[in-house]
Amino acid sequence: MASATARQPDELRRQVHENLESLGLDVLDLVNLRLGDATGPQPGSIAESFQALVELQRQGLIRHLGVSNATVGQVAEARSIASIVWVQNMYNLAHRHDDGLFDTLAGAGIAYVPFFPLGGFSPLQSSALTRVASRLSATPMSVALAWLLQRSPNILLVPGTSSTAHLRENVAGAGLTLSPDDLAELDQIGR
Ligand SMILES: NC(=O)c1ccc[n+]([C@@H]2O[C@H](COP(=O)([O-])OP(=O)(O)OC[C@H]3O[C@@H](n4cnc5c(N)ncnc54)[C@H](OP(=O)(O)O)[C@@H]3O)[C@@H](O)[C@H]2O)c1
Repeated sequence: MASATARQPDELRRQVHENLESLGLDVLDLVNLRLGDATGPQPGSIAESFQALVELQRQGLIRHLGVSNATVGQVAEARSIASIVWVQNMYNLAHRHDDGLFDTLAGAGIAYVPFFPLGGFSPLQSSALTRVASRLSATPMSVALAWLLQRSPNILLVPGTSSTAHLRENVAGAGLTLSPDDLAELDQIGR
């Protein structure tokens, strides 16, 4: 994966070759062009950077392309240049700026991979989440993940944890079914 700061074509080419060598691969399955900064997506054309990755794809060094931390305009710009298979942006129960983008991508069969699905450095906390979790005899975090999974079939989750107990809780979220009442209550968190 290219580093957080790789934007210049030369730098992107160098990092893709370094990744291939360090992983001992002939082709990288997926490369994300990581955009924006720590405060979120930043507007601006991505054509030059994205074209560099498209060229590497044409050379057979990359199978699929994606964009991360991107504005709606940048996602559209990437799609006008080449096919993308996913968008990785910040999205969770409390942070729903991408609701519209999410639905557009679902219609186009492009995966949406939320980063910070559990809130990242500020883990999700909400009385509604706690209430729904207690009704379901589940943990709040597993309910937050279940909500994402029920949000749309194009979602792909990579919640981070350093704890086996949390990993078990998070996997349990995939088995929860939220009722329309649960969903309506949880929907209020991000509104
Ligand atoms: N593309 C980008 O720009 C970008 C930016 C940021 C992150 N990411 C990626 O997005 C993914 C998710 O990011 P993330 O891991 O930082 O955010 P996250 O999944 O929202 O949150 C992880 C935090 O939640 C805690 N947690 C996990 N499961 C829990 C549970 N069941 N109960 C209580 N706390 C729990 C973790 O602590 P414990 O370790 O104690 O469980 C950790 O502090 C990662 O793969 C990351 O590499 C991408």
